Amino acid sequence: MTLHPSTDDWNKLQQHYEAIKNVHMRQEFAQDPKRFERFSIRFNDILFDYSKNRINQETIDLLIELAKSCELPEMIEKMFSGEKINQTENRAVLHTALRSRSRKPVYVDGVNIIPDIEFELSRVKRLAKMVRSREWLGATGQPITDVVNIGIGGSHLGPLMVTEALRPYGLHDLNVHFVANIDENHIIDTLENLKPETTLFIISSKSFTTQDTMVNAESARQWFLGRQPDERHLARHFVAVTSNAEAAQEFGIERQNIFKMWDWVGGRYSLWSAIGLSIVISIGPENFDQLLAGANEVDQHFKEAPFEHNIPVIMALIGIWYNNFFGAQTTAVLPYAQHMHRFPAYLQQADMESNGKFVDNQGKQIHYSTGPILFGEIGIPSQHAFYQLLHQGTKMVPVDILAPIFNFNGVSKHHNALMANVFAQTEALMKGRTEQEVSEEMAGQNYSESEVENIRPHKVFPGNRPSNTFLFETLDPKTLGALIALYEHKIFVQGVIWNINSFDQWGVELGKHLAATILNEINSAKVILGHDSSTDGLINYYKSRKG
Ligand code: F6P
Repeated sequence: MTLHPSTDDWNKLQQHYEAIKNVHMRQEFAQDPKRFERFSIRFNDILFDYSKNRINQETIDLLIELAKSCELPEMIEKMFSGEKINQTENRAVLHTALRSRSRKPVYVDGVNIIPDIEFELSRVKRLAKMVRSREWLGATGQPITDVVNIGIGGSHLGPLMVTEALRPYGLHDLNVHFVANIDENHIIDTLENLKPETTLFIISSKSFTTQDTMVNAESARQWFLGRQPDERHLARHFVAVTSNAEAAQEFGIERQNIFKMWDWVGGRYSLWSAIGLSIVISIGPENFDQLLAGANEVDQHFKEAPFEHNIPVIMALIGIWYNNFFGAQTTAVLPYAQHMHRFPAYLQQADMESNGKFVDNQGKQIHYSTGPILFGEIGIPSQHAFYQLLHQGTKMVPVDILAPIFNFNGVSKHHNALMANVFAQTEALMKGRTEQEVSEEMAGQNYSESEVENIRPHKVFPGNRPSNTFLFETLDPKTLGALIALYEHKIFVQGVIWNINSFDQWGVELGKHLAATILNEINSAKVILGHDSSTDGLINYYKSRKG
């Protein structure tokens, strides 16, 4: 079921879909030599080409009408001004304030939050500078060579993704590591070659109650004290980022080593806050400022650009078009940039935790499709893995392809070959290859007539498969900040149109709750009988094997 029952705009779009669903993009490009100019937007260093989509001008006009009738302009205003749009948690949504440059006050419960943001950012930068310049010494007087961020979800994926993407901006003699998994192998492997005297742990947890993070933090502490038994030494080696300072203090972290988070920053939108401490240590305060500046420029663009020239709005509307009218279940994000290898994983949380909802803002069950299954990988390796399905599978998978025009190292032999693939793949997805083209190609080769008959159908590509292409100058902090903010706002727009709360995450609660009960059951000597037979059977089998 893909139709929103209550608005005329959805019905108009449905009729429009019926009219154009079989139109091939080849035809559209042949008829309109200006299609690329018509359906692309330039914003600072970014070119967003959305011409290879199954749309025409009417599609965009109708989708914009839909956005307006869903009160998108009002909702944008509400988000930026700090209204508590995250109703189920009674919270404002103000990651945009974290990158605001204007010093214009933003109020939460009557208090201007900008001075607090600036203060906390200055503390983060101060610590980062000291670690980078080797002024921050470990308890035995040695400088820090390794920083380990312990966190999960938004307290992990954003910092990891950015640190990896901006690897060339890091220091060679300072390594930043990330531990998220409660599987002990993650922390054991990470700490294997580290020395406590030169290691700084950042315990990143908004709540400071997340089990995975707490267990890893405790193991880190034991590892440290096992080698440096003096508890007073912890102060030079453990810092925390949290909104639960009491719990961090109880864990043993000194007050002055605790950095603040606020309840108006969602975990998956928090890399701009002190949760980005590992990023600031890795790339330095000036580059972090550039990251914030890039995101802030997108915030201005999102607030001010008319919808037809507004990149996040157009990204969102195209996503809605495929999700709700073509019935696409998935979307793929494919960066052609090695350093962006964690970008799809980061976006999985950003998008799927935000918009994977089946109940609307009024608490009613939804009967149309909401957030897509997002997956992705870096471009070239995935061509040799799952692109077969993108080109010839039975499912339509709209894709986003992202690529820098200049590589950081400027080795053009590699880069031109990389970019040739970007252009080739989007062309192939769009154009496909007809039976006639296959016949012509095979005619010039040594195939018998029967071989041509047998093989020809397998060499046909239906084409008409949609893609957006983002070209940007280089993968620098400012551009990365901008790209992340584009996706954040795309997710927000889609949430508004689907009438869901993109900022809560109740769907992660049940599993956590059950795991706590089951952990007690695993630790008890009793045979477990309270679940369904499968769960009981699995728990008891595990217990019997463990002995
Ligand atoms: O997975 C659920 C979640 O609450 C995420 O939204 C959040 O980013 C993650 O857990 C980590 O939470 P915390 O920072 O409180 O440890």
